[in-house]
Amino acid sequence: MIELRTPADLDRMREVGRMMANLLNACCGQVRPGVTTAEIDAFCRAYLATLGDGTAASGSLGYMGYPAALCVSVNEEVIHGIPGERVLQRGDIVSLDVCGSYHGLFGDNTRTIVVGGPSALTPDVRRLLRVTRQSLEEAVRAIRPGIHLGDVSHLIETIVEDGGCSVVREYTGHGVGRRLHEDPPIPNYGKPGRGPILHEGMTLAIEPMVTLGKPAIRVLPDGWTVVSKDGSPAAHFEYTVAVRKDKAEILTPWFEQDPWSDAWPEG
Ligand code: MF3
Ligand code: CO
Repeated sequence: MIELRTPADLDRMREVGRMMANLLNACCGQVRPGVTTAEIDAFCRAYLATLGDGTAASGSLGYMGYPAALCVSVNEEVIHGIPGERVLQRGDIVSLDVCGSYHGLFGDNTRTIVVGGPSALTPDVRRLLRVTRQSLEEAVRAIRPGIHLGDVSHLIETIVEDGGCSVVREYTGHGVGRRLHEDPPIPNYGKPGRGPILHEGMTLAIEPMVTLGKPAIRVLPDGWTVVSKDGSPAAHFEYTVAVRKDKAEILTPWFEQDPWSDAWPEG
């Protein structure tokens, strides 16, 4: 069953979405050579406590036993990297995934940035980031009531594969609202005209997870960290969006500020 948001809940989704986008951007602002991923997590917890009326809660901390307030996935790590003593180096790519709740509604968002700025990128990794971001942006532009979820999934898959990258198949986007994970699962591959029809009032987390090499993944012995099997670098971008009357509204507008404006390789 895909839940629809009331107008009042949509207002709350907008509020928590903006909060999670601000939190994500603030965490991105901490990324520099020499910082540990645990330090970014500590910053995330402290910053979260200052937001709104102080009742905002991390969606990842304690989720199925997950031990941190954000996921930090470096290089070949695709998702669910656990913060720790790893020291970030110039040229590492870092996916920061931040989710949480405020007044009963959740927001979820992710971006991949490069340590040291765009000059630290190789051409292949630059392509990985651009293609993954592009697939998210185009998917969001395509969303409107009446289309099938498979149309969105297929669009993401096509953009990623046309860009010479691969879609991870074992993990999906998802509905998001009163719970972090609601129906429907949103695969990043699929067939046009298949799957549920989108309706006004749905709130969805769209999140392409992409590798530069082959699509196969494995989970590390820590039980969480998902890495590409071939060791190729991976990227992940995510927005929470609402299906509105004739478009998708981005509820986690992290693009509005870039705490580290040279970190996004537009060129
Ligand atoms: N934000 C992730 C998602 O999209 C989940 C984080 S919860 C964790 O679903 F426990 F897996 F970290
Ligand atoms: Co998500």
